Amino acid sequence: MKVKAMLSALLLLVLATGYSDANKITSCHSCSGINCQRTGLSLVQKCVDSLDYCVTIYDNSKVLYKGCSLEIPAKLRHRCDSPHDDSCFKCNSDNCNNVGSTRFACVQCDSSKDANCAENATSLKPTVCTAPTAPNSYCYVKASGSGSNIQRGCSTTVTDQQSCLQDANCLLCSSGDIHACNSLNITFDSNTGNRFIRFLR
Ligand SMILES: *[C@@H]1O[C@H](CO)[C@@H](O)[C@H](O)[C@H]1NC(C)=O
Ligand SMILES: *[C@@H]1O[C@H](CO)[C@@H](O)[C@H](O)[C@H]1NC(C)=O
Repeated sequence: MKVKAMLSALLLLVLATGYSDANKITSCHSCSGINCQRTGLSLVQKCVDSLDYCVTIYDNSKVLYKGCSLEIPAKLRHRCDSPHDDSCFKCNSDNCNNVGSTRFACVQCDSSKDANCAENATSLKPTVCTAPTAPNSYCYVKASGSGSNIQRGCSTTVTDQQSCLQDANCLLCSSGDIHACNSLNITFDSNTGNRFIRFLR
């Protein structure tokens, strides 16, 4: 009896060890509340449970939480219960969750690498941005080199957004309002003042 108990304990130990060897503990990008808006702070956490996955929770485009799913603050947990709630992004590889909301995807291209970027950007598929640190996530389209170069992408930090605002040849728009909003044609204009285009629904 005693030997049998010891044997099964040993078997359990072997099984448990085999189990944890086979499953890598997931690590996720991590932040909570106002810390998600700090650009200098880039933390990663190891999930306690080796079968956990990573999440990012948004309020529109603003990030409220990044981390392991089992450690979501109680008041945000309901957002991840429904598979159709796009305010909770889920993924299951290491540090996969530094991602913005799918609603705020932008066309991302450079006309020096992709000819369609300049005047055929409506043919390019918008892709999801990295998680913003700014309260809003915008798309931009920018002309430089007297209009010879066009760049399109995500503007996810306050610094990037301010510098686009101050550049007469850079436009910001919200893809939460219009799908692929930064696919419009822009012409280089050295005479225009500061512009800020935020399309309305
Ligand atoms: C952009 O400009 C090109 C060339 O003039 C034109 O063919 C295309 O229809 C324009 N696209 C949009 C979205 O206005
Ligand atoms: C725009 O892109 C589409 C898809 O790649 C392509 O079929 C079309 O010929 C392009 N149009 C121009 C004017 O380059």
